[in-house]
Amino acid sequence: MMSSKTHSALSARLDDKHVVVVGGGSGIGHSVASRAYTCGARITIASRDSEKLKRVAGEIGGGVNVAPVNMTDETAVQTWASGLGSIDHLVVSASSASHGPFESLDTQRVRAMFDAKFFGPYVVAREVLPHMNTGGSITLFSGVLSRKPGMNCSGLGAVNGAVESLVRRMALELGPDTRVNCCSPGMVRSDAYAGMDPQAREAMYTSTGESLPVGRVGETVEIADAALFLMTNGYVTGLVLDIDGGHMVRQYATR
Ligand SMILES: NC(=O)c1ccc[n+]([C@@H]2O[C@H](COP(=O)([O-])OP(=O)(O)OC[C@H]3O[C@@H](n4cnc5c(N)ncnc54)[C@H](OP(=O)(O)O)[C@@H]3O)[C@@H](O)[C@H]2O)c1
Repeated sequence: MMSSKTHSALSARLDDKHVVVVGGGSGIGHSVASRAYTCGARITIASRDSEKLKRVAGEIGGGVNVAPVNMTDETAVQTWASGLGSIDHLVVSASSASHGPFESLDTQRVRAMFDAKFFGPYVVAREVLPHMNTGGSITLFSGVLSRKPGMNCSGLGAVNGAVESLVRRMALELGPDTRVNCCSPGMVRSDAYAGMDPQAREAMYTSTGESLPVGRVGETVEIADAALFLMTNGYVTGLVLDIDGGHMVRQYATR
């Protein structure tokens, strides 16, 4: 029998819930914020670029709150978190990535990636926690490279693995008040690739898509739907959810 705390992902509502999306100014985070808004949530989006955040907030709809922060500045995160009010669900999709051969990728670039994709979410989650309502959730992001190695991605794969490991331990320590989960996307069409040459980007999407059982790369809304499932299903914690078009079972890999 369903208790009053049980939700179906398909009928999930977030009325009056405050959802904070760090990384909400672009890509997957933008889609998460839009979907949660549609489900009735109060939304705060964060990242470093306040002008971009204001523009995206306007696109999502009226009343979306903008709260700029640089996740790698621990002092700034502390001040930022204490200004958010009470929070029901935290999603951290913000990150930056560096690629390069293991033998030559500069150590500073790897450290910067750990700062942005591991320590940023780590500090954000810790500082937001005292402001979270009981029954809330935290969702962090890793990616397929954590468990499926790719060429020139040793550092990025390692940081993804660290995030997944952290999530399992946080879930244990923070329950039953707060659930903690991880979205692990495969390749999706996102602002993350906006800096690429358009033709090279399409070629990358096509060749990656052809290697996957679903025959295409993903869309940000497909990852957002998974994030909403993690947010709203009260029986899910400590989960790393792969939303990757079958990347984990694809024929791997050419050199
Ligand atoms: N897209 C994919 O194919 C893919 C595949 C696997 C995993 N993922 C993972 O999924 C997550 C979301 O990816 P995405 O495609 O949505 O990325 P995205 O479009 O590049 O968005 C990343 C966001 O992070 C923000 N950001 C970066 N550094 C920050 C910092 N120090 N402080 C605060 N905000 C910061 C950026 O905004 P500002 O520049 O304004 O700060 C941006 O809004 C990431 O963890 C990514 O690694 C993505």
